Amino acid sequence: MDNCFLVTGCGGFIASKLIKELKNDDPNQRIIGIDNFTTGYQDNIPDDIFFYKGDCADRDLLNIIFGKHKISKIFHFAAQSSGEISFDNPEYDLKTNTLSTLYLLDKSVEYEVDQFIFASTMSVYGDANEKASEVHKCNPKSFYGVGKLASENYLSIYKRQFNLNCISLRLFNVYGPGQNLKNLRQGMVSIYLAQLMKSKDIEVHGSLKRFRDLIYIDDVTRIILNLTKWRSFDFDVLNIGTGLKTSVENIILGICNALEVSYKDIKITHPKETLGDINGIYANNERLLESIPMDFIKFDQGILKMVDSVND
Ligand SMILES: NC(=O)c1ccc[n+]([C@@H]2O[C@H](COP(=O)([O-])OP(=O)(O)OC[C@H]3O[C@@H](n4cnc5c(N)ncnc54)[C@H](O)[C@@H]3O)[C@@H](O)[C@H]2O)c1
Repeated sequence: MDNCFLVTGCGGFIASKLIKELKNDDPNQRIIGIDNFTTGYQDNIPDDIFFYKGDCADRDLLNIIFGKHKISKIFHFAAQSSGEISFDNPEYDLKTNTLSTLYLLDKSVEYEVDQFIFASTMSVYGDANEKASEVHKCNPKSFYGVGKLASENYLSIYKRQFNLNCISLRLFNVYGPGQNLKNLRQGMVSIYLAQLMKSKDIEVHGSLKRFRDLIYIDDVTRIILNLTKWRSFDFDVLNIGTGLKTSVENIILGICNALEVSYKDIKITHPKETLGDINGIYANNERLLESIPMDFIKFDQGILKMVDSVND
């Protein structure tokens, strides 16, 4: 059996871009993808991967995939990825996000997978209200954050007890071309961009003073590709952020500039705050930069590329 990479959530924003990065690095690399299309799209999936439509929390499907392919690396990116949506059906969130991780970890040990890279989130920290390093206290405010933190803890146990080479990436706010502009409950940049492309009246749930750390999609996939070359992961968790703080007001200003709309001409209304929303957080990325020295794409450049991709 050939050596394969398994990418879960391959129809989604980040995983589909990651597959392109992996294929650019090695066009002959065999890739297996899984997606249940809850938020992803068939069109995002390259033709030259081996695709299974289904759910990562389906043990029968995992048995088929692992029985058929020799999986060397797993990129577990499938998830319900909205804090807000996790309140609609916490039980579903737990199953689709956390149980799926546990099942995949279990299979990874059984089939001696070399590397397991997990997409966690800055939501595990909750309201840090400051720059958060990996040792910052975790106090999630949404069921989504709770489930991701539980997955991280499962990874740590699999690493220590079963010698699985794994790492949890605490992704901050990832944005860029390919982000879903139809889903107005997931992704801060995409939500404001989608609204401003339609109208000058936009809704912002919560204060304009809230802040985030915005990281461009290509920077994220570049980091993950770099991690695939590591023999072993020395730490359990890694912040994936730029270390720069951007207020919601500056996000909207940046989008206005990219769209060539005057900020003065837009009207912002503030319906009630989103349940479980975080006031402010940005990444202490010293660990990342010590491991992978790099420059990040600035928000004003990244948002221009995103707008251009929509207009193409
Ligand atoms: N985009 C961000 O800013 C961000 C920030 C922090 C963490 N993350 C994490 O990164 C990962 C990817 O996020 P994204 O922005 O690409 O989201 P996305 O919604 O575009 O992609 C997720 C994909 O997973 C699929 N999926 C969901 N549950 C599944 C399941 N149980 N089995 C199979 N497929 C399933 C969806 O259909 C979708 O294609 C997620 O784990 C998310 O929690 C994203």
